[in-house]
Amino acid sequence: MLPRPTVFIETYGCQMNVSDTELMLGKLTSAGYDAVDVPDGADVILLNTCAIRDHAEQRVIGRLGELKRHMKPDSVIGVTGCMAQRLGPRLLEQAKHVSLVIGPDGYRELPSLVDGARRGVRVAATRFDLEEHYEDFTPRRFDNVKAWIPVQRGCDYKCTYCIVPTTRGSERSRKLADVVRETQQVVADGMTEVVLLGQTVNSYFDGTHDIADLLRAVGTVPGIRRLRYTSPHPNDFSDRVIAAMAETPTVCEHVHLPMQSGSTRTLKRMLRRYTRDGFMECVARLRAAIPKLVLTTDIIVGFPGETEDDFAETLSACREIGFMDAFTFKFSAREGTPATRMPESEMVPDDVAGERLQRLVDTVRAMSRDVNFGLLGSRHEILIEKPAKRGELLQGRTRDYRTILVPGDKSLIGSYMHVEITGTTGHTFTGAPVANRMALPLAG
Ligand code: SAH
Ligand code: SF4
Ligand code: F3S
Repeated sequence: MLPRPTVFIETYGCQMNVSDTELMLGKLTSAGYDAVDVPDGADVILLNTCAIRDHAEQRVIGRLGELKRHMKPDSVIGVTGCMAQRLGPRLLEQAKHVSLVIGPDGYRELPSLVDGARRGVRVAATRFDLEEHYEDFTPRRFDNVKAWIPVQRGCDYKCTYCIVPTTRGSERSRKLADVVRETQQVVADGMTEVVLLGQTVNSYFDGTHDIADLLRAVGTVPGIRRLRYTSPHPNDFSDRVIAAMAETPTVCEHVHLPMQSGSTRTLKRMLRRYTRDGFMECVARLRAAIPKLVLTTDIIVGFPGETEDDFAETLSACREIGFMDAFTFKFSAREGTPATRMPESEMVPDDVAGERLQRLVDTVRAMSRDVNFGLLGSRHEILIEKPAKRGELLQGRTRDYRTILVPGDKSLIGSYMHVEITGTTGHTFTGAPVANRMALPLAG
């Protein structure tokens, strides 16, 4: 019998791409391929790419050059995901050793496209399919502790800096019943945590059910202990959603709430559709309903026209809100987006953006450092996720998304543990196991 052909997929970008890679691997393994962990010697090599910033694309270009030297003469290289969608046939012209370019809605045809490419047919498949959710695919998951479940594809917001509406097309939601069925499967496979994914996940609407219905339905699937969702848009936090969060005990006390800027003027130019006050009000409503809520965010600095005063408002908003963490980015001009058409004179020089980025990182870190030192000695339930990068430790997460490193055997991965925080770098924590006393009545 001939050996099964092998496939290697390298993933860039956001969790949506990780989830798509899981779907692609599921599809290809069921079509007769074996998944391998290294590109060397693989019959099929796919880069599942991101187009969000120029840097993300440059990494892929560099990697494609590198792979050219490592590929077997008869192996096939393909580019999938957002950069594939953005560049389409241009990629085939630019990189002659690439034979497949497949956008995010084209993975259903993956086995036949790959077979074709192995016979020498080069194609770019970048048609959107607004019905596509890959319902009949069985994802081959990387993570066996928490399951990433896509509930929505595409995006209907049109933030002026953002390429995602171009690379992922219009927003569409999976049916609630399909998401619930996948959640039940995940529990049957031994997982207890689920993260629902969408670009503006709280605008989820399947024609009948909204995200509030979805949180309640998924959050009460027997066996689920933790439910998260990412990323919500501030404008889609209806009272119903907030109530569903507060009233569903499995929904964790953490929200990743992208702010992008603290300046109303900049937010307007970004077409974020909320003001600084609107964002603050959203935070206040969430915190009123979920008192222990922890917030993280995304922020862009150096958006065209951002003045020092605008940036100062971003810093003050961070101080006012106290994010536990922030993903911070320098604005990157993306071809075809409205921000690239803003006057040249408004472009923020790279050194100014770089300096703002540093001040922003310092501000966020200083805030969370103070909070984190205050947590020494406190007790938490963590889910053990994986071995820590350093030492013999394991990495666990609290419900509110803090990382705690604890000693222990790898067999504990996937289980819950009660720990006391014994140390902190200011960012991550170390902890020691304690007996679960939380359920006992208070002494005295
Ligand atoms: N849908 C999510 C964001 C997805 S992209 C949301 O709206 O919240 C992840 C982050 O990348 C964004 O929140 C933004 O902070 C950043 N980003 C997007 N486009 C960018 C660009 N052109 N330059 C720099 N950062 C960008
Ligand atoms: Fe991009 Fe805005 Fe859509 Fe997020 S909401 S994916 S930032 S267009
Ligand atoms: Fe990147 Fe596409 Fe995600 S552009 S951030 S991989 S949706």
